[in-house]
Amino acid sequence: MKVAVQEIPSNSALNVPGPTPSKFLGTKINSLKFSRDSIGYTRHLFQTYGQIVSLANGGGTNLYSSLSNCPGTVFVYGPEYVKQVTSQHDIYYKHPLSGRLYRRRHESERTEPLKHFAVGLFGVNSEQHLQERKLLMPAFHKKRIDSYRDDIVRITETVLSDLAPHQVHDIALVMKVLTLRVATKTLFGEDIGSNGLKVGKLLQKTLTLLGAPRTTIIPFDIPGLPFHTLLNQMAQLDIAMRTLIQQKRKNRDNGTHDVLSMLIDARDEESGLPLSEDEILGHTHVIFGAGHETSANALTWTLFLLSQHPNVAADLLDELQQELKGKPPSVQQLERLPLLERVIQESMRILPPVPWNGRVTSQATELGGYRLPMGTEVFVSIYHTHHMPELYPQPEVFKPQRWENITRSIYEYNPFSAGPRVCIGSGFAKLEIKIVLAMLLQRYRLQCIADLTVDRKGVIVMSPAKGMPMHVFPQDRQFTAGLNGVRGNVRDMVQLPCN
Ligand code: HEM
Repeated sequence: MKVAVQEIPSNSALNVPGPTPSKFLGTKINSLKFSRDSIGYTRHLFQTYGQIVSLANGGGTNLYSSLSNCPGTVFVYGPEYVKQVTSQHDIYYKHPLSGRLYRRRHESERTEPLKHFAVGLFGVNSEQHLQERKLLMPAFHKKRIDSYRDDIVRITETVLSDLAPHQVHDIALVMKVLTLRVATKTLFGEDIGSNGLKVGKLLQKTLTLLGAPRTTIIPFDIPGLPFHTLLNQMAQLDIAMRTLIQQKRKNRDNGTHDVLSMLIDARDEESGLPLSEDEILGHTHVIFGAGHETSANALTWTLFLLSQHPNVAADLLDELQQELKGKPPSVQQLERLPLLERVIQESMRILPPVPWNGRVTSQATELGGYRLPMGTEVFVSIYHTHHMPELYPQPEVFKPQRWENITRSIYEYNPFSAGPRVCIGSGFAKLEIKIVLAMLLQRYRLQCIADLTVDRKGVIVMSPAKGMPMHVFPQDRQFTAGLNGVRGNVRDMVQLPCN
């Protein structure tokens, strides 16, 4: 298979400083603390040990690596580390989204879909990654992305029209539904009818289960357990997606420009060979998985921040109304909305939807003066880099205007990562986020419910733990109305009014 699974020498100890494992529970407690609150726990570790820390002194932890016998887990932050890890493509490998479960792909016929499930670009490295990325690039060129504008506007219009005003809605859920529909439409196209949406929903359910810690912690194929359900869903998904691919192959002359059709038609420049069906499935899972919850959370966090910063919300609405006059934006108009650009930039700095870049060393290497054995997991913190006071004075203040006077390198500001694995869908994400915000804010004002508690959750994608319940009002410019004293650990990430 594509990930180079090699034996790790058993004498490979990790000597990066970190907390001492518990006498009775070993390193499990450290892993649990990280899974429960990766931002808060690592903030404490960085403050105690410095910019490079291990999850447990002496190593022995494994959060994500698909290799057995992982020497341990290391966390780093700051531009220098971001640069070293993201640009050394042949040393810092990426593993499939299935992480530790990927090891089990050869166990039985039922676990076999793990060979391709959510592998895609995440599961290939070195030269093969560069080649497959090149093959996918045409689907993400600006012209192609701009052609999705009409679909995004139409879907946004439908979702906004369904949003009854003067009521409370979970905005996190609304944004998930919206981006799910956009992802499904652009991935699968129109010609397969409502089957596309059904497959999209099943894919979302399966990816959610894959990412749930309980699936990995109790990985038994016994009815009633999450791992059993995951295997059932993967089998179902395989059948459904292979059927879609057959349908697409039949309809191939109808000029559709969805991503799946493009993957089917893609040919390697040198060999002229197409992608195998399993490779197409893997790429589809990853593009969908990487592209839909990320954008949904970027939107949710931005709407939350705007609800807490009345002056920014008022200025942004002025800009939108002046340029758009109540209408959805054209691609050209999006270029003429500088405050919208800065609001999104600042939102993804302060609350990055993807807080970590995870890698596994393909060979022994050196980082920050420490020797990392082959197979070491390295997590680069986008979040902690974005909160460095040396780079961003008053880092916890949401201040879109800070971007009027500063430019930051890709290693200092990287919500979409950096290096050869920089997000392939960033242009698509920005288009979608801008269109949705421009349409929503001209039509509605969102206000947090009273005494709302906002806590973060998630390692791969950071989202509000209990959704984002907000009142939806027709846009009335009453921006100061929603400052009701939000609680929760969002307050240690962003300075909010009424502290
Ligand atoms: C706000 C929205 C988004 C954010 C914050 C985001 C962030 C990221 C980050 C940080 C990475 C690098 C992960 C790593 O190296 O560990 C990444 C990779 C990727 N993203 Fe995005 N992303 C977003 C939207 C999208 C969209 C809309 C798509 C597709 C339509 C997409 C597809 C991908 C793919 C395929 C990769 C893997 C690239 C590779 O390994 O070569 N992303 N994204």
